[in-house]
Amino acid sequence: MTRAVYPGSFDPFTNGHLDITQRGSALFDELIVAVLVNTDKNAMFSVEERQMMMREAVVHLPNVRVMAFEGLLVDFMRLRQSRVILRGLRALSDFEYEFQLAQMNKQLAPETETFFMVTDAKYSYLSSRGVKEVFNFGGAIQEFVPPGVFRRMRERVLPKRTG
Ligand code: PNS
Repeated sequence: MTRAVYPGSFDPFTNGHLDITQRGSALFDELIVAVLVNTDKNAMFSVEERQMMMREAVVHLPNVRVMAFEGLLVDFMRLRQSRVILRGLRALSDFEYEFQLAQMNKQLAPETETFFMVTDAKYSYLSSRGVKEVFNFGGAIQEFVPPGVFRRMRERVLPKRTG
């Protein structure tokens, strides 16, 4: 049985993330989508909120689990008995960072292997940061995120915008 881990910040989970999750779930027996617990004061959603939205978005994928992890990814991997890290790759600009991450993880835990999945072209421009920026300036984000994420983002500002 091959269990893979797809780690990230997922603040928020986008349709690009969902696409990687769906395609990854078809390749591995089990896929854990793992949200990093960090102390980013600028985060839009708490880790609990993120997990809730992500669980809703992947409810149709029975071999996908959404979990949170704290500290080193490789420690979480060992705890969960997984050796496969899955990451999405959008463009060459992602590569340097991803390469460093993969090398560092390999150094820390030689048993791990990082698999890169090339993002579908229709999501190649999509990032959580971009979605937040468009949203914060009042732009339409409906086509960028799963319906549950869209709903919660809207709920978050509705009282402010109508009040
Ligand atoms: O979505 P992101 O923010 O690009 O994801 C980055 C993430 C969460 C995969 C990475 O920051 C991570 O694994 N952090 C946990 C700490 C760790 O293991 N660091 C060592 C590798 S540099």
